[in-house]
Amino acid sequence: MATRTVAVVLAGGTGERMGAGRPKQLMDVGGRPILAHAVGAFDAHPGIGEVVVVMAAGHLRAAAAIAAPFRKTAAVIEGGATRTASTVAALRVLDEHPDDVRVLFHDAARPFVGPPVIDRVLDALDGCEAVAVGVPSSDTIVVVEDGVVVSMPPRETLSRFQTPQGFRLGTIRKAYELALADPALRATDDCGIVHRYLPGVPIRIVAGSERNLKVTQPLDAVIAEHLATEEAP
Ligand code: CTP
Ligand code: MG
Repeated sequence: MATRTVAVVLAGGTGERMGAGRPKQLMDVGGRPILAHAVGAFDAHPGIGEVVVVMAAGHLRAAAAIAAPFRKTAAVIEGGATRTASTVAALRVLDEHPDDVRVLFHDAARPFVGPPVIDRVLDALDGCEAVAVGVPSSDTIVVVEDGVVVSMPPRETLSRFQTPQGFRLGTIRKAYELALADPALRATDDCGIVHRYLPGVPIRIVAGSERNLKVTQPLDAVIAEHLATEEAP
């Protein structure tokens, strides 16, 4: 039977803000690499058929060693210089898959994505072409230009994006085809590409979770270590 849902775990970054001297997704939290948590979350989910890991150049062997024990690992490939380029590398691997396959793009740097968030993305994808995960912002967010506040969007209209972001493969393929033909393409996330290049396609938002944090700076690693102790065995 053809694979109906692919999870792409994006681990092509080098973790400059973490400053660990190696990609942060290779750091351990709760005794396992962050990448193992992320791949494991999708491997264990019954709705996922295969997992593709996109890794930073020079670290493919380490990623392959981490991903190999997971039964659904289908490929470990090299990413690009930007997150967008890493997504494009993954789309190339999925060339042979039909347009109606569902694909979820997840930040490897989010080790604690739980089954409910993945469930919500998959459920929403039954009825639409693009799904994002959002959490409300507890801080007020303002738009600043040249050190001055120029607008204050009402907090209840704002949502912080998390991942996974889910798409019908045909939709995200088309969006990237248009994006790559645009000389003014600016790197953004995958929903940003759909929003900009396929403006007629609504992006549904489902609820994320505060546990689904992105390990970005050293303080996040401390929080992640704490969250790992609360993880269900
Ligand atoms: N990512 C990727 N390919 C890139 C850049 C980022 O696949 N060229 C992935 C990262 O590995 C991460 C996710 O996209 O899982 C979110 O990116 P971010 O948190 O910015 O990670 P890094 O780019 O590694 O960190 P930094 O920006 O601090 O260098
Ligand atoms: Mg980055």
